[in-house]
Amino acid sequence: MNTLFYSNVHIRRIGENRIDDLLALEEACFETDRSSRRNLRNLLRSASVSCLGAYHRGAVVGSAVILFRAGTRSARIYSLAVDASARGLGVGRRMMERAEKEARLRGCDRLRLEVRMDNIPAIRLYERFGFASTHVLNGYYEDGAHAFVMRKELI
Ligand SMILES: CC(C)(COP(=O)(O)OP(=O)(O)OC[C@H]1O[C@@H](n2cnc3c(N)ncnc32)[C@H](O)[C@@H]1OP(=O)(O)O)[C@@H](O)C(=O)NCCC(=O)NCCS
Repeated sequence: MNTLFYSNVHIRRIGENRIDDLLALEEACFETDRSSRRNLRNLLRSASVSCLGAYHRGAVVGSAVILFRAGTRSARIYSLAVDASARGLGVGRRMMERAEKEARLRGCDRLRLEVRMDNIPAIRLYERFGFASTHVLNGYYEDGAHAFVMRKELI
């Protein structure tokens, strides 16, 4: 790991004024199922959503969006993205740790997410983090790709 880079990465909540940071990562990291500016603005404005950014010397290198819902103690990792220039350096792991912390702070005892069945880096990250696949959603993505639904109990 590049320790100099790692120690200069800071994770913080993203405000609506940094919407372009989220959009840039969406465009750089996802080929399908991208969130629109309008969708991202709604997420940034919602009290039941945590939008996190990982910043390196002022530049965004990662993002995570976590959704919460009244009446359930299950939080959903809606999106996780790390810029290609910063991958393999522990940023994804840091974002997941922070997402888990946010979920605990909001009284959740479970995290869940969907991931493309062919997205090996993401699946490995989630498995390493204690997620297990519960079922498959056939044709979940715009291009027809299937998804694993993965879950982690926060105990
Ligand atoms: C998936 C993603 C978020 C991982 O972020 P990252 O910062 O590179 O991940 P980290 O460096 O924190 O790696 C953490 C663990 O993930 C796994 N991992 C990460 N990249 C991997 C790769 N290319 N191949 C296999 N496993 C990988 C490893 O288990 C790794 O732990 P290790 O280094 O101790 O072996 C990043 O690749 C990404 O943004 N991809 C494009 C967007 C995306 O697919 N998002 C997920 C949507 S569900």
